[in-house]
Amino acid sequence: MPSVFDTAATATARPITFVTKSTWPTIRDGLGPQARQFADANGFAAKPGACLVLPAPDGQIAQVLFGLEDDAAKHRDLFRPGALAGLLPAGTYRFANQPHDARLAALAFALGSYRFSRYRKADGSEVRLALPDGTDAAELTRIAEAAALARDLVNTPSNDMGPAELALAAQQLAERHGASFSCIVGDELVQQNFPLIHAVGMASTRAPRLIELSWGDPAHPKVTLVGKGVCFDSGGLDLKTSSGMLLMKKDMGGAANVLALAQMVMGAKLKVRLRVLIPAVENAVSGSAFRPLDVFPSRKGVTVEIGNTDAEGRLVLADALAFADEEKPDLLIDMGTLTGAARVALGPELPPFYTQDDALAAEVARCAAAENDPLWRMPLWAPYDSWLDSKVATINNAPSNGFAGSITCALFLQRFVEHAKSWLHLDIYAWTPSAKPGRPEGGECQGARALYKLLSERYG
Ligand code: BES
Ligand code: MN
Ligand code: ZN
Repeated sequence: MPSVFDTAATATARPITFVTKSTWPTIRDGLGPQARQFADANGFAAKPGACLVLPAPDGQIAQVLFGLEDDAAKHRDLFRPGALAGLLPAGTYRFANQPHDARLAALAFALGSYRFSRYRKADGSEVRLALPDGTDAAELTRIAEAAALARDLVNTPSNDMGPAELALAAQQLAERHGASFSCIVGDELVQQNFPLIHAVGMASTRAPRLIELSWGDPAHPKVTLVGKGVCFDSGGLDLKTSSGMLLMKKDMGGAANVLALAQMVMGAKLKVRLRVLIPAVENAVSGSAFRPLDVFPSRKGVTVEIGNTDAEGRLVLADALAFADEEKPDLLIDMGTLTGAARVALGPELPPFYTQDDALAAEVARCAAAENDPLWRMPLWAPYDSWLDSKVATINNAPSNGFAGSITCALFLQRFVEHAKSWLHLDIYAWTPSAKPGRPEGGECQGARALYKLLSERYG
């Protein structure tokens, strides 16, 4: 994919002038009489998102007007310029004046020009942006390409994105950056003590696996990323409804996002020893499927009773987290599309995060806001921990009362983390249900950009 950023064509690029309700009268006065008449005739009123292409006397495009929220507006969508990528005719453009945040505007422009083109030629025109002075083209390209990787992985349907294909994507990423790669497949998971990953994945003809990638100087701080890689979630025997199952190709969204984050971290050569673990499985239905009220051992040693086979994400993450935790990482981060309850609580655009480390939580919140990659802290509410009790095993994977589903999932995972200096858990959605500026409908990169900023600040 050629970068949407054009670093050479600044002189010939068509100017985009950002206007708000309050700056419009002055900007309008500065237009030539014909352009002013053209804007008025089109009823242009500088409403947020309004776009008007102004013709030159010879019929060429002279410039573009694009409306933004006023400084005083209750909410300013810093990604609004991302809509331009889908509105403009083919060509190269530049910012003629400052949007609210030029870096985020340029990033949104790139994120907004993403198309999923694996199965048919992308429609839409070739629109490029000459970057404003002082923006780091390599850095923005790195972020936009990582987001595109996450989106491509999520958008690819399960028939072409099973555990093996997800492993291949991780292997290709490892090879591009000189990282080491390994994979534990099928019954070998039992031998190597990953009983929960095996239990969830054993119904599918596509063997479960634990994908591992390692990169960087072993003397640097240890940062470990764990991503839920459920390549399709039918719910298992506690089968989902058809509407509940429809989007479940995206259930490897956590894996997609940790790979995107890893790509940024390695691309920027941050001073970390990076480790990525992805339990990759298909939660399928067959005669060898795990069943409600089955009990399994776990890598950590505690036994787990299956209250619901649809709470599979926490099971595969539990073994991967326990494994990650054994080497006492400085920072352990996991991401997964774990609960419908997270979406009920905060909606699809605002994933909850959990950590006991207050300083880390403050950094996460600040980086999320700065990158327009929103995240919201929720509590590891200890009084609910007893809801995980089982009458026959150490712990049950699905509390029966149905309350606080995202919190009880986080509390379940917390049982498997003991030695990591800090642990951060993200319950993401990884999907944009209806397009917004900079966020086309479909698979989404969620949390990875915010965490990349955090890691860059700590280890850049
Ligand atoms: N992958 C789903 C969670 C999910 C559903 C995320 C819809 C985003 C949208 C997960 O494996 C799941 O099914 N969770 C159950 C847990 C329950 C059985 C305790 C859920 O949220 O209903
Ligand atoms: Mn499920
Ligand atoms: Zn799932």
